[in-house]
Amino acid sequence: MPSTKVLALCGSLRAKSSNKGLLRYAQANAPEGMSIEIADLSEVPFYNSDITEPPAAVKVLLAQFAAADAFIFGGPEYNYSISPALKNAIDWASRTPNNALLGGKAAAIMGAGGGMGTSRAQYHLRQVFVFTDIHPLNKPEVFANAFAGQFDADGNLTDEKIQDGIKAQLAALAVWSAQLRK
Ligand SMILES: Cc1cc2nc3c(=O)[nH]c(=O)nc-3n(C[C@H](O)[C@H](O)[C@H](O)COP(=O)(O)O)c2cc1C
Repeated sequence: MPSTKVLALCGSLRAKSSNKGLLRYAQANAPEGMSIEIADLSEVPFYNSDITEPPAAVKVLLAQFAAADAFIFGGPEYNYSISPALKNAIDWASRTPNNALLGGKAAAIMGAGGGMGTSRAQYHLRQVFVFTDIHPLNKPEVFANAFAGQFDADGNLTDEKIQDGIKAQLAALAVWSAQLRK
């Protein structure tokens, strides 16, 4: 199987974010042959086509999108949908000619939120993937609860079942990404 370079993006910007905790766990437990880089979205401005010279944070982000074979989108659910930070990152990346940064690449989705585990936001994200031609992994899905003792006070993932779910999802992402690159 070829190696897989993954860019992980978090829809929550706060320091002790449980969603960042999911991505950190994934990064620390990536299967052999997979490397995971976590994007910093904290300085990325809202997309605006008047910004003809993108700031450094956007340039770095777009270079990370370009270099990635696959993505992990992790994030909370805000008012039953995707958080703006995550959507904004995708919007910036989608403005490149021929959709070169996103089109045809594999993605895994994970999230930590309330009782529905960000499922509503995750299914909205899958809709965004239709136009951007990102190919989401169908299963396994990862739905964590940010309010039920699955994370410590710093946002680190402590729940063994979710940890196992992430490991299974990463293994499936490696296979899915390799299939798409054949
Ligand atoms: C603006 C806003 C809207 C929210 N809406 C939802 C929601 O629709 N569903 C949900 O499960 N949680 C909702 N929440 C709570 C989030 O699940 C909670 O803030 C989550 O833990 C944030 O993730 P983080 O720990 O990564 O920051 C909302 C929070 C905010 C700030």
